[in-house]
Amino acid sequence: MSHVLDPEYYERACGAEGRRSVEAAMAEIARMGERLSARKVDALVVVADDHLNAFSFNCVPAICVSTGRTVQRMIQDHAEAFDKVLDHMPQTYALHEHLANAILDQGLATGFDLALSWEAPVDHAFLSPVNTLHGSRPIPPLVPIWVNCFVAPQPTARRCFAFGQHLARVVAGSPWNVGLIATGGLSHFPELSLPRVGETDTVFDRKLIHWMEHGEHEPLLELGGDELHKTGSHEFLNWLVLLGAVTPSRATVRYFGELPRINLAAVEWSLP
Ligand SMILES: [Fe+2]
Repeated sequence: MSHVLDPEYYERACGAEGRRSVEAAMAEIARMGERLSARKVDALVVVADDHLNAFSFNCVPAICVSTGRTVQRMIQDHAEAFDKVLDHMPQTYALHEHLANAILDQGLATGFDLALSWEAPVDHAFLSPVNTLHGSRPIPPLVPIWVNCFVAPQPTARRCFAFGQHLARVVAGSPWNVGLIATGGLSHFPELSLPRVGETDTVFDRKLIHWMEHGEHEPLLELGGDELHKTGSHEFLNWLVLLGAVTPSRATVRYFGELPRINLAAVEWSLP
């Protein structure tokens, strides 16, 4: 699902149509959250990217797992408008430390030497979706996972997908009932690509949606870093982790909306 979920922000960026569109997406995400809560999950894995605010250029992990007992909401002195929506959200979130450690430990045995963090705080990419999903209901223990979507060289689409398969194996071998979300996008150009802010590539996003709806994941594995960068769908790497975990399930598209600033999406997979 998209992770900038702030009607005020979209109204400023795209006018009344922006507000209408994000409110429609958020309503669908809230309904997805009701279905998620009905499944009574023990943990919720959240795959999102660092916006160069949790980490910095002194270390850019390809994939990093948050572990420990709790994680803190990010507090920024000069927050982007869409991080200001975090201000009214809870400050501390429980983590599912045992699941996080299983992902890390079993990763070592299967070729994933993952970074780990006890300290990195979580921003809108994690907390806007999590809070929109749950509303006033309790939030299950989280396992936040960051994927490097911004700083070249990023992990490949195939690597992200394989990591999702690793997550699925860990969960399948565990005693826990686990939900998984991936956030970001779709096509947009953040301030890091200043000349293209305000553009989207809807033709490309519709291709992604088509492949996900049909459970055709092979073409998605061929996506190159350049292509994701050129189309503004760099955050789709997070989605590829989820696809690896649920493959070959087909997606149900709950919302897809084109805006000049960003294409919004809410997509659901239900496993038997
Ligand atoms: Fe983002």
